[in-house]
Amino acid sequence: MAPLLSLAHVSKSFSGGALGRGERTLAVNDVSLSLSNELAGITGIAGESGSGKTTLAMLMMGQLLPDSGEVTYRGQAVRRMCSADLRQMRREVQPIFQDPFAAFNPFYKVDHVLAAPMRNYRLAPSPAIKAKHITEALERVGLNPAETLGRFPHQLSGGQRQRVMIARALLCQPRLIVADEPVSMLDASLRATILSSLQALSSGPGISIVYITHDLITAYQICTNIVVMYAGSVVEAGSVERVIRSPQHPYTQLLVASIPLLDRGKQWTGLDLEGTRPAEQRQSKGCPFAPRCPAVMEICWNERPAMYTTAARHAAACFLYQDKPAVASADVSEVFVQGNGVISA
Ligand SMILES: Nc1ncnc2c1ncn2[C@@H]1O[C@H](COP(=O)(O)OP(=O)(O)OP(=O)(O)O)[C@@H](O)[C@H]1O
Ligand SMILES: [Mg+2]
Repeated sequence: MAPLLSLAHVSKSFSGGALGRGERTLAVNDVSLSLSNELAGITGIAGESGSGKTTLAMLMMGQLLPDSGEVTYRGQAVRRMCSADLRQMRREVQPIFQDPFAAFNPFYKVDHVLAAPMRNYRLAPSPAIKAKHITEALERVGLNPAETLGRFPHQLSGGQRQRVMIARALLCQPRLIVADEPVSMLDASLRATILSSLQALSSGPGISIVYITHDLITAYQICTNIVVMYAGSVVEAGSVERVIRSPQHPYTQLLVASIPLLDRGKQWTGLDLEGTRPAEQRQSKGCPFAPRCPAVMEICWNERPAMYTTAARHAAACFLYQDKPAVASADVSEVFVQGNGVISA
């Protein structure tokens, strides 16, 4: 069976500087990743600012076309989809953005925000069914319809607005929700409620979630599998338990070490910023992390590392593991389904 969504050798670059005459930034560099049609669950995409997460999300949603490589949805190349198929994809693949306020028109009440997609996609044959769907969607994300409907966006809290956006996505009867930093603008108490709403959705039938974040703690809380990106490339992938508990790539090790701990004696240093940041210098060849890597070797400057399987359901693109078997396919999602016992952990 074809995967629900698949990215094969996808790259995307942007021109920079005034009038686009500056250096081109390779925002996503040869990423192959797919989401299974059968397995729901939450796949995390993590990396620091500028690592290409949002660009990857836009490519996944068909909002951007890659410069090279192919994005396919339900077995069809997005690049060649007819408008009816593209419309179906737009309905089934729903975004949730970082800033819930930006998605609202301040002059429309919440009711309008929720009713619009049902009208656009003709999902409610009568006003009564429309009202029923809206009530159910609001309740599913933990909102009280009586307290939510009839209000303008500015009359809701940030957490309520973000939940309205999740309800809106649900009303489209999505197959995949791509949530790009959905909680980074909310305070900690609201984060938990939004994340548990997402988790509840993914545990029911039929909805897969891609959770994009720079925050490994929330990724650890809700994801099944995770992909770590650096400078547009995938550097590590695997089950969230393995990747965050036992990171193998020097970049992920730095990321995990920078997680602030509940230890008042230990100063939080943030990321070790020695070397060059990814947006400023992207290696045209070799490993993208070489300029910042504490374990850099000669080979890292010249050759791009393959993904090496370091344990069951865990692989890292790093020459430190070149004696281990390389992941057979370019598609990193293969790592998520490696059976236990293939390689002892
Ligand atoms: N439309 C654009 N035009 C030019 N450059 C862009 C554009 N979109 C992204 N970029 C560049 O591509 C790189 C990746 O950006 P992207 O927004 O995908 O990163 P990100 O991982 O989502 O970062 P953040 O965590 O800050 O949201 C960055 O260097 C960024 O400046
Ligand atoms: Mg982003």
